[in-house]
Amino acid sequence: MLILRDFIPDDIGSVDKLVMEGLHERYDPTLYFNIHTYWPKGFIIAETVKNIVGFIAGVRSGPQQARILMLAVDEKKRRQGIGTKLLKAFIKRCIIEGFKSITLEVRTSNEAAIGFYARFGFNIINKLPAFYTDGEDGLQMWKKL
Ligand SMILES: CC(C)(COP(=O)(O)OP(=O)(O)OC[C@H]1O[C@@H](n2cnc3c(N)ncnc32)[C@H](O)[C@@H]1OP(=O)(O)O)[C@@H](O)C(=O)NCCC(=O)NCCS
Repeated sequence: MLILRDFIPDDIGSVDKLVMEGLHERYDPTLYFNIHTYWPKGFIIAETVKNIVGFIAGVRSGPQQARILMLAVDEKKRRQGIGTKLLKAFIKRCIIEGFKSITLEVRTSNEAAIGFYARFGFNIINKLPAFYTDGEDGLQMWKKL
């Protein structure tokens, strides 16, 4: 059984692990706490009886716009609809909040994520040269709500 719930600070260790394994990034753990304080409803955890298997974290980036900062699902649990459930829940919360659009950035090489987001109506609107710390270009994607 999968439960979606709001992030709590006790989740930081599990979220950090998903970020390192899935997004290959290493952040100061206080970052997660700070993201959570900007818009608590925009940080959603997917959890089974055993452990945390995914999360999505977004912030308000304009008066009527949200930005997805991170989304990751445990590698062993992918292609089971967990990412879909997280993104759908996030979109629903954005609509309730009155946001009119959502943006995000993704690595140009991340075909899985680009395909995943495109399925939900996100379009590529910008190329972001050397957006990532390792020099890889990013793509900005946008969805109207
Ligand atoms: C992107 C990600 C969150 C998707 O999570 P997920 O739980 O596997 O996604 P879902 O099972 O809900 O997939 C929904 C659909 O997205 C598409 N999709 C997902 N993963 C895909 C892949 N590896 N290749 C091609 N299409 C893919 C498919 O259309 C899929 O539907 P299907 O399984 O019926 O074919 C997951 O792959 C992940 O954590 N990747 C590493 C982190 C990352 O890249 N995050 C996004 C960048 S911000």
